[in-house]
Amino acid sequence: MDQSSKVSVVVARVRSLVHDGTLRAGDPLPSTRALAAELGVARGTVVAAYDQLDGEGYIRTRPGAAARVLAGSGVPRPSTGRASAHLPAVAAPGDTGDAVGLADPSRPGDPSDPGDPGNSGDPGDRAVVDCRPGIPAVTAISDRDWRAAWRAAADAPLRNALSDPAGLTALREQLVAQLGLARGFTPSVARIVVAAGTSEALSLVVEALRARLGRAPRIAVEDPGYRSGHRALTSAGAEVVPVPVGADGIDLTVLARTPVDAVLVSPTHQYPLGSVMPVGQRRALLAHAAATGTVVLEDDYDSEFRHRGSPVPALAALDTDGVVVHLGGFSKTLDPRLRCAYVVVPSGAVGAAVLAARTARGAVVAEPVQVALAHLLRTGAFRRHLGRIRRDYTHRRERIAVRLATSGVPGLEARALTGGLHAVLTWPGPGTGAAVLARAAADGVLVADLADYETVRGRSGNGVVLGYGAVTLPELDRALDVVLAAVRATGADPG
Ligand SMILES: Cc1ncc(COP(=O)(O)O)c(C=O)c1O
Repeated sequence: MDQSSKVSVVVARVRSLVHDGTLRAGDPLPSTRALAAELGVARGTVVAAYDQLDGEGYIRTRPGAAARVLAGSGVPRPSTGRASAHLPAVAAPGDTGDAVGLADPSRPGDPSDPGDPGNSGDPGDRAVVDCRPGIPAVTAISDRDWRAAWRAAADAPLRNALSDPAGLTALREQLVAQLGLARGFTPSVARIVVAAGTSEALSLVVEALRARLGRAPRIAVEDPGYRSGHRALTSAGAEVVPVPVGADGIDLTVLARTPVDAVLVSPTHQYPLGSVMPVGQRRALLAHAAATGTVVLEDDYDSEFRHRGSPVPALAALDTDGVVVHLGGFSKTLDPRLRCAYVVVPSGAVGAAVLAARTARGAVVAEPVQVALAHLLRTGAFRRHLGRIRRDYTHRRERIAVRLATSGVPGLEARALTGGLHAVLTWPGPGTGAAVLARAAADGVLVADLADYETVRGRSGNGVVLGYGAVTLPELDRALDVVLAAVRATGADPG
């Protein structure tokens, strides 16, 4: 038996023990060394198996601590509690043990399926699977790292002083280093402004543009696009002009004949359709912006997660004319409840106007939050966390790609899978996204209607947006089954 078959055997056995309830949420697994010795396999085999199970959402491994079974991966723990399960012997090398006959979490009637009506488990564990986009794997961060960051915040000396409106220098320094590593540009600390989420950042930019122009700015936005961002622009007094999105991101031909003061784009992973703006288009957009005095607002909301293809440089990294305002944050990488984002302003008048608006508004992100984030970045905990969730998201993304490729629904397309933590499913035919959403919700799976991202209705056809940041693989399987059944039932085009 080769190494990968041995890994598969260990993986299959642990999965089946989780599915049949022998191992339950919170139970520790044997150490990799102990299990390898018990099975007579190399320790690396068990390490690889645990790694895969971690990525699949069955267990959570942590350096220096026992791997534990994750909640939601199998049957619920009975309220009486029970002693930690021992992992019975698994197939020794040469044994033909395989996954055949193991519980399949997606199979109807499977006891491991928390949504199976036949399940006698705790109703809480059969709860709704929430696949609406916007929630990342918040709980994946190491407890130790998270607590250390908040201890650092608590330990920060008290001062009789106000916070710097632009943000804590220690955090902005870390952001410079992170941008240099991950996005290929290293702005000065003075060009970084901390904001209370992307929405507050956008309203700040509108305030700056209004002050500069002496009137309400006109801002082009992607259609379909990030509606919360658009609302932030309009509620700050901007006029929003929808521009269609094509396979390469925002349609530059339409943009070229749309006179605007600024344009909001998500070039790395268009939200929600997922198109990646090729570098040629990026340069064309920047040239157009420089020639027309248009400010480019680059929403770099989930660039940390790239599952396919080589990374394309950020617009800010290509900007030689000082036209790009780059927006990033921690809502997709850590927790949207932190309400912490940042703006990298260009040098020159626009940057100065944003800094002036920030000074006038004052500090908006609580200083302890900024201290904790700076600590996570400085100690490497943030990067470790990214490595872990990137792997999880890639597993989930693969699962979606495989499942949809064999869905048998004519014309069904999966989009936005090159990066990020959501997918878009589109299909021809009469069933609308709203109808599929309603049917899936009735079956306990929540997704978003693609039409709700449109400004001009009907532009992107029938579809739903499915977030996979906060679900386990078994939950994802169930969500996909339910959504595909809903697409079939509401009348996908028979081809
Ligand atoms: C396209 C897009 N941009 C930015 C954000 C981050 O928003 P915020 O920083 O306000 O949480 C999100 C979060 O869902 C998003 O989908």
